[in-house]
Amino acid sequence: MRIVVAMTGASGAIYTQRLLDNLDPRKHEIHFISTKHAREVGQLELPKGELKIAPSVIQYDENGSMFVPFVSGSAKLDAMVIIPASMGTIGRVANGVSDNTIARAADVFLKERRKLILVPREAPYNLIHLRNMATLTEAGAMIIPASPSFYTKPKTITELVDTIIARVLDQLGIEHQLVKRWRSNE
Ligand SMILES: Cc1cc2nc3c(=O)[nH]c(=O)nc-3n(C[C@H](O)[C@H](O)[C@H](O)COP(=O)(O)O)c2cc1C
Repeated sequence: MRIVVAMTGASGAIYTQRLLDNLDPRKHEIHFISTKHAREVGQLELPKGELKIAPSVIQYDENGSMFVPFVSGSAKLDAMVIIPASMGTIGRVANGVSDNTIARAADVFLKERRKLILVPREAPYNLIHLRNMATLTEAGAMIIPASPSFYTKPKTITELVDTIIARVLDQLGIEHQLVKRWRSNE
């Protein structure tokens, strides 16, 4: 698969890290882009303040350029995951404000009916957040909230985060062994 991973400035940089950890760049073409605020939050939240990214992941330095492949429908990518997704970016995408690389790319994935997955993190939600997420769902995006589950008895923060990463990988159609499936020995 050809996948865009976009990190925006909501809390939850560990979600980005765990998704990147579980996308094999030998099997998939992975494009990675982050916003300025994502990098600031990452500095606070991540060990040593930065993501560990495999060298073969294709990285973009700034979230402003329209000279990247996935801002055009003519570039055939399969899926985009915005993780974590800030309410700011969700608002931009839900309202068609394509003024940066990530917002434009998400707009393209929606118009081309390609898979767009957003992992929002905010609490509580205001009505604007909820309406924007409803709009994105109506437009074909998949919202996977950063609301981990507990029934698999996660013992570490990583295991807790992986309950969400498992859902993202399931939606991408990528096999994984991250969590035990309910009522199965898989
Ligand atoms: C420490 C920190 C934590 C934040 N957490 C959240 C959050 O959980 N959800 C959210 O929507 N915004 C959060 N924000 C605010 C966003 O970073 C801010 O709205 C920013 O403009 C989003 O821009 P971006 O979408 O371009 O990254 C946080 C900001 C900081 C500094």
